[in-house]
Amino acid sequence: MCGIVGYVGYRGAPEILVNGLRKLEYRGYDSAGVAVVFDNEIKIAKTKGKVNNLAERIEKTWSEKLQTKATTGISHTRWATHGEPNEINAHPHLDNDGRTVLVHNGIIENCRALKARLLAEGHTFASETDTEVLAHLVGKYYKTDLIEAVCEALSKVEGTFGIAVLAKDKPDEIVVARKGSPIVIGVGDDETFVASDAAAIVAHTKNVIYLDDGDVAILTAGEVEVRTLENSPISREVSTLEFDADSAEKGEHKHFMHKEIFEQPDALRNAIGGRLDKDKATAILSGLSMSPREMAELRRFIMVACGTSMNAGLVGEYYFEDLADMITDVEQAAEFRYRNPIIGSQDMVLAISQSGETADTLAAIREAKQKGALISGLCNVVGSTIARETGRGVYLHAGPEIGVASTKAFTCQVAVLLMMALKFGRGRRLSRDVGQKLCAAISNIPKYAEETLKLDGQIRDIAKVYAGVEDVFFIGRGYMYPVALEGALKLKEISYIHAEGYHAAELKHGPIALLEPRVPVVALANDVPGKDKTIGNIEECKARNSPVIAVVTGDDPCVDGLADHIIRVPETPDVIAPITVAIALQLFAYHIAEFRGCEIDQPRNLAKSVTVE
Ligand code: G6P
Repeated sequence: MCGIVGYVGYRGAPEILVNGLRKLEYRGYDSAGVAVVFDNEIKIAKTKGKVNNLAERIEKTWSEKLQTKATTGISHTRWATHGEPNEINAHPHLDNDGRTVLVHNGIIENCRALKARLLAEGHTFASETDTEVLAHLVGKYYKTDLIEAVCEALSKVEGTFGIAVLAKDKPDEIVVARKGSPIVIGVGDDETFVASDAAAIVAHTKNVIYLDDGDVAILTAGEVEVRTLENSPISREVSTLEFDADSAEKGEHKHFMHKEIFEQPDALRNAIGGRLDKDKATAILSGLSMSPREMAELRRFIMVACGTSMNAGLVGEYYFEDLADMITDVEQAAEFRYRNPIIGSQDMVLAISQSGETADTLAAIREAKQKGALISGLCNVVGSTIARETGRGVYLHAGPEIGVASTKAFTCQVAVLLMMALKFGRGRRLSRDVGQKLCAAISNIPKYAEETLKLDGQIRDIAKVYAGVEDVFFIGRGYMYPVALEGALKLKEISYIHAEGYHAAELKHGPIALLEPRVPVVALANDVPGKDKTIGNIEECKARNSPVIAVVTGDDPCVDGLADHIIRVPETPDVIAPITVAIALQLFAYHIAEFRGCEIDQPRNLAKSVTVE
């Protein structure tokens, strides 16, 4: 969480920094700030709230000269951990003498002990942040060599960091470092960029260097020197970004979420494209780098993930059990590492993460590696930490997802998990005949997504009816159970309506006590095993006078005359229904949030990439 952008070159830094921060607002948006070095002075602007407030502040209070001639700067958009989101706690933070300034993404876990020592040495602090403690440490060690001071300070620190540091007597240099929080450096002609995510850089250059944990780097105009935290030189390769600036723009869409919902047919095409071998009736996922024998010998498949990615994993669990005939578990990443999971060399642990940076998922995969399991990743962001640390896995190729509520990543994760289950299944007991049917079904997913999107107007009308409610339950069984969880998560994230996903049978074990006319139930009565029982559960909801919005397959008349509203997703093989239904529920959540006037792309308190535990 939190986004960092830095620039050193020949152009006015403030504009580049502010535009870069706009691309990173999904990482946090409670306050923002910029620092530049100009005339051997550090100039800082900070504001509470969104990056636009910061842009206005700079425009109003910084001279034209400062805005255009300051060519080195760092900036930050914040998601508060230590201290409330206000101007004082906003980054950048100065050291005790005002000679160096720093922005930080991550958490300094031993900040209390460090702060106590610094206070005893006479330091005074303006903010409540852990970052200011780190800034003071850098200042304490800074004599003439900035990277030396940064390395010295970081050697005292426990926790995670992605940082960028400036010194007022080094107007042409930025020092950056990472451990646990991403840092990507963009190398241009006579200019160098740094950010938490390549989306903030891609408009300027496609040549990037991803720092590894424990790397520090000195950036000057067009030059990058990478070192270890012990300050010894190390080389890192330059990679080329595979997306362009347009894919991280909203275009004609009102919100990124809207754009990303409607991009799903294309995103799914990219996720599936070239990955089906219809002849052999299997999937080609070469990034898994496993021989058929290795696959056949696996004892257990465990998925670790958070949020929406975990819901995708829960759909995948059905696929792996049904098709790959494998013992499969899905674990909340945060819990997995603090238990004593019984895993070993015959188990594969797959980290599912859109961003590839979620702290708990990363920690879970490290724990699994430590215990000797095979680890792999299912990530969207190319070059992300999880993708690189696992070394094997599958990319989604869904394109940048900016809206905080995940949409296209979820459906692409489900599609890829289905392909993985097909591949593992074919290496084990799945017949060629079933494999071929699955290949046909999977290749039609983009078309089914397109058809589902045609329901937009109708779903909007239904959303209008329910936009004023305070509580909603989502119920489903089998493949539809995790989709009910995801539908509820989408709605609560962006509309602030209290929404809960339940197994349809669990309703009777508590939640049914809450049903009444003001509490609608979204019931997923698709044509998948368990449908008839779900219809029975809809009867129970109606008997308690709850309005029911049912989702059914095609023309199925199963809830005609029973449900108050019916959403008819296209007829598909049952394994595909989680994708079409998820799209319908994304539209439902989107329109409800829109009717309620919510900030859809940047819901309160949330961030897209949760890089703290
Ligand atoms: C945050 C986001 C969710 C996302 C979750 C996991 O909570 O707001 O949309 O599902 O993190 O993120 P990941 O990048 O690991 O999929």
